[in-house]
Amino acid sequence: MEGFDPASSFGPDVAAHYDDHPRGDEEAAVAFLAQVARRRPALEFAIGTGRIALPLTGRGVPVDGIELSTHMVERLRAKPGGSQINVTIGDMSVATTDQRYGLVYIVFNTIFNLLTAEDQISCFENAARHLAADGHFVVEAALPHAWIEPGKSDYVHAEHVGKDIVGLDVARYDPVTQLLEENHVRLTASGIELSPIVCRLITPGEMDLMARIAGLRLVDRFANWQRSAFDARSSAHVSVYGIESPRLR
Ligand SMILES: C[S@@+](CC[C@H](N)C(=O)[O-])C[C@H]1O[C@@H](n2cnc3c(N)ncnc32)[C@H](O)[C@@H]1O
Repeated sequence: MEGFDPASSFGPDVAAHYDDHPRGDEEAAVAFLAQVARRRPALEFAIGTGRIALPLTGRGVPVDGIELSTHMVERLRAKPGGSQINVTIGDMSVATTDQRYGLVYIVFNTIFNLLTAEDQISCFENAARHLAADGHFVVEAALPHAWIEPGKSDYVHAEHVGKDIVGLDVARYDPVTQLLEENHVRLTASGIELSPIVCRLITPGEMDLMARIAGLRLVDRFANWQRSAFDARSSAHVSVYGIESPRLR
């Protein structure tokens, strides 16, 4: 998308309204992650406003974060307990906290916010660098076909149709770059608001290969935080990676 800067896509306006409509999976996600962490410290890539990190801390798991947007971190800081969370401002594919964790996790499709295969591989490598020997990297993301029907190259979804406001999701997909360019458009009597975002969609299979490049191996995969079986009907996945044991020679 011409002129799109990923670093500015979670600016002050998006950050201000980010928590207005919770996704609804917070309790299940936190229960799953707490079970994997087993009270060992955890690191969230792209911690945002602490939607998951804060309740996870409440479950006895100390959480650090890496985050690109200072505006999202400001919202985290304003919440109860938010100022106690250590956040490193930077790009999750390279930034470091110089510590190792029992759990590193990235949720809510955020691996897609890295827009090249190289950066996505670097993100897996960065997760591996932050893991304790018996630690796990958890990735939660949609399946690409759940977002863009195979063979389709664009769509317009009516997200909200109200008397005074209409919300549209307008998107174009390039199967060569795997980039989905999307703009959330809000039409109101006082004007038009645009919230652009670009995502690079990857399948679970591609993630498994990226993990192998990073020295990680798939341990478990579920269709959701409730651990439903991952199968042909799944529209998302929760994947758990562990450090690959050294090969026997
Ligand atoms: C969909 S939000 C998810 C926030 C939080 N993890 C949650 O589940 O609510 C995506 C977040 O990723 C952050 N982000 C995007 N690209 C990033 C990058 N390269 N490094 C670190 N954070 C990034 C954005 O600033 C935003 O806070």
